[in-house]
Amino acid sequence: MKIMVYDLIVLGGGPGGYHGALQAASNNLKTLLIEKDKLGGVCLNEGCIPTKTLLQSAKVYHHALHSEVLGVTASNVEYHHEKVLKRKNEVSAQLRSGIRSQLKASGVEVIEGYGQILRRQADGFLVGIGDVMVKGKRLLLATGASSVIPPIPGIREALDQGIALTSREILDIPDIPESLTIIGGGVIGLEMAEYFAKTGSRVTVIEMQNQIGGPIDSEISSTFLKILKQKGIQFELNAKVQSIDQHQVTYEKQGKTFRVDSEYILVCTGRKPNIENLGLEAIGVETIKGCVSTDETGQTNIPNVYAVGDLNGKSMLAHTAYREAEVCIQTILGKKEQMRYHSIPAVIYTTPEVAYVGETEESAIAKGIDYAKVNLPLNYSGRYVVEQGDRNGFIKIVIDKKYNQIIGVHILGNYASEIIYGAAMMLETEMRTSDIEQLVFPHPSVSEVIKDAIHQYIKIGG
Ligand code: NAI
Repeated sequence: MKIMVYDLIVLGGGPGGYHGALQAASNNLKTLLIEKDKLGGVCLNEGCIPTKTLLQSAKVYHHALHSEVLGVTASNVEYHHEKVLKRKNEVSAQLRSGIRSQLKASGVEVIEGYGQILRRQADGFLVGIGDVMVKGKRLLLATGASSVIPPIPGIREALDQGIALTSREILDIPDIPESLTIIGGGVIGLEMAEYFAKTGSRVTVIEMQNQIGGPIDSEISSTFLKILKQKGIQFELNAKVQSIDQHQVTYEKQGKTFRVDSEYILVCTGRKPNIENLGLEAIGVETIKGCVSTDETGQTNIPNVYAVGDLNGKSMLAHTAYREAEVCIQTILGKKEQMRYHSIPAVIYTTPEVAYVGETEESAIAKGIDYAKVNLPLNYSGRYVVEQGDRNGFIKIVIDKKYNQIIGVHILGNYASEIIYGAAMMLETEMRTSDIEQLVFPHPSVSEVIKDAIHQYIKIGG
């Protein structure tokens, strides 16, 4: 049997995998991409893109209902969840076909099937896809992650009965439920709480930590919590889920036991890399705590085997995966590039949005950095007042006092998602406060508050 040999075999067609394959093929590497399900991975089919599609519809619905202050009233406003789901699927299909075309145009071969690493040979790695065997001189592993199911008594039964759902199934429930209990107040929990609360569900979020949003700056987190509560979402923090019995979740908080009943239960307590049945052990790829270990170029302990995206567990974000894939391919091509995780931004697409990059106040303290901070309401921006008009939005900038260098930027308020890349560039290029002072921001724009905040800092002697 003749075995096809490739310069690079990519396992997994999500952002890390398809981007890596495109980069490789456009640099004349003979590339094969193996995908077991749909091109685009979790991001495009059951993550970033579908959730943003839902959130956009909910936002428009909310505007239609609550725009009296802008002099706009609408009557007979209706929300059609089934049409929203249809559009969500169309958007994913459109983007998927775009990826397929790009792969084709770049000369990437695509095989649909489950790829498993079989063994290592002197000149490459054998990979099986059912009965087909192929060989890659190099491997790029990009198999992503899936929902963690915590060991809560009754959770398996509730999942089997379709009462408890993960972030995958919730995207296709046919109707907006009357009530929803969300276990986990991280990124997924908050975006879903926003969607279902806006479209009419009674939402309760149970979070075991003392703040929402995971590692976000605690000042941002507490104001964010206040806003979400004002919207009617109920939060139970420092709460430990003890059991699930059909529609009922029992949790413990401050030594007392509480129960909440709801139509559905969403489990979003983190994600774990997909390492099972990948064949890692067949060639000796090292993992630590369930994540494939990689160096700063993305290479595993086995030369010519790379791992990107959620699989290495370093930063479970699609845009991290893109960059990691670029660094791997550049490394394969003999260029010297490496990952710089400190300047990767992150966004929570709620209303208001949360976006951040770099050190929080807490992480600066933990690292012993001599830091200063400056907070400024977003109402300093004329555009923010015109278009958002809330009093809660603010920006927080963390500055390393030694060099007056920007080391963290945190924004709570709409447009944050589109502004944060500029802040990431400030960190990436090690900008100091004096550099920001010399920049010109568009007016009126929300981004101007970055410069305003730096002015405030300098005015008080920073
Ligand atoms: P997460 O790690 O963001 O949050 C999980 C939360 O669940 C944590 O706050 C944790 O304390 C809590 N938790 C864990 N076990 C619990 C329990 N038994 N009871 C109560 N609370 C519990 O994970 P999440 O939200 O599932 O998101 C997974 C990944 O997907 C993240 O890495 C995230 O970066 C990514 N993602 C990114 C998005 C974005 O960039 N906008 C959107 C959605 C997901």
